[in-house]
Amino acid sequence: MSAPNSDYDPVEVTPLHPDEIARVTSEALQAVTAATTLAELKQVRIDHTGDRSPLALANREIGALPPQARKEAGQRIGQARGEVAQALATRTEELEAVESAARLLAETVDVTLPTDREVVGARHPITTIQELVADVFVAMGWEVAEGPEVEAEWLNFDAMNLGPDHPARTMQDTFWVASSGAAADGPGAQDSGKVLRTHTSPVQARSMLTRTPPIYVVCPGRVYRTDEADATHMPVFHQVEGLAIDEGLSMAHLKGTLDHFARAIYGDTMTTRFRPSYFPFTEPSAEVDLLCYVCHNEPSAVASCRTCGGEGWIEWGGCGVVNPRVLVACGVDPERYSGFAFGMGLDRTVTSRYDIADLRDLWDGDVRFTEPFGVGL
Ligand code: PHE
Repeated sequence: MSAPNSDYDPVEVTPLHPDEIARVTSEALQAVTAATTLAELKQVRIDHTGDRSPLALANREIGALPPQARKEAGQRIGQARGEVAQALATRTEELEAVESAARLLAETVDVTLPTDREVVGARHPITTIQELVADVFVAMGWEVAEGPEVEAEWLNFDAMNLGPDHPARTMQDTFWVASSGAAADGPGAQDSGKVLRTHTSPVQARSMLTRTPPIYVVCPGRVYRTDEADATHMPVFHQVEGLAIDEGLSMAHLKGTLDHFARAIYGDTMTTRFRPSYFPFTEPSAEVDLLCYVCHNEPSAVASCRTCGGEGWIEWGGCGVVNPRVLVACGVDPERYSGFAFGMGLDRTVTSRYDIADLRDLWDGDVRFTEPFGVGL
């Protein structure tokens, strides 16, 4: 009989007993399964594989075993630790998948939800037509020119050969800017020498005074006259002015330019006609009409056409060969240069084109009116 193994102390090595190893292993595996978040699992990892975990403590006891028992105990513990490590790795993967799915779900953006972004407006049809007109002329090499709406009386009238007694200079048509201290309708009301421009023609004068010929300018802008606002009149409206100054320009160039302009806006079948007229700043002068774009002056349709009132033509604007007195006033030599000019209202173009019954709709600033004309902003 062999002598008792004096190194062997059963109390101290209880942690290494197979039943005890099995128990702490199964406890560890249960804890791993029970963890429902990565944070919980982290604690499980510390409790069951950390330095102070039962399996780590048991591992330390191996040294106390007799050499022949160490290998077996080492294998048992190694296997148990392997199992726990494997379970932890699997559970980590599972919980990572669950948590990332939850995060994706929480961060989902519903692109179909209505936004709270305010629609700020839409381009006004007057703006659109001003740009369209400018484009037509810029494409022919013309420049766009602008001038102020509060204009010098001299540029609005005198330079345009509108003598002091011309009817267009009376208080009837013109908003005078009162000089400081003067009542708007009292004596001296017209002494400021300033008016709200009654037409875009002063931009002709400004262009000639600041450029040297040849001059080709188109000037869209706002103008003012003392009309009562109603469905067909407004005290403020829009015109576009054209001015060409060069050597040898004639009425024929004017007609060709306006025909091209009309076709660019209204399509290839459009034509214009001239009627003799009078403007102080042009000689000869004409009213220019557009062929009615609804009935086309067709004999079968014209009589009942409401757009042109049975005329077959629609008034478009005024035009003519620039009066030499205007050239002289604006520093252009009339012996060498001649030119033509035209001016038309844009508001009526828009209202007749889009069947707008009331001019005041153009001024209401209601996006429900402007939106159907084009791009919302
Ligand atoms: N200025 C004129 C008007 O307002 C229009 C016009 C311009 C006529 C240029 C002839 C030449 O009625």
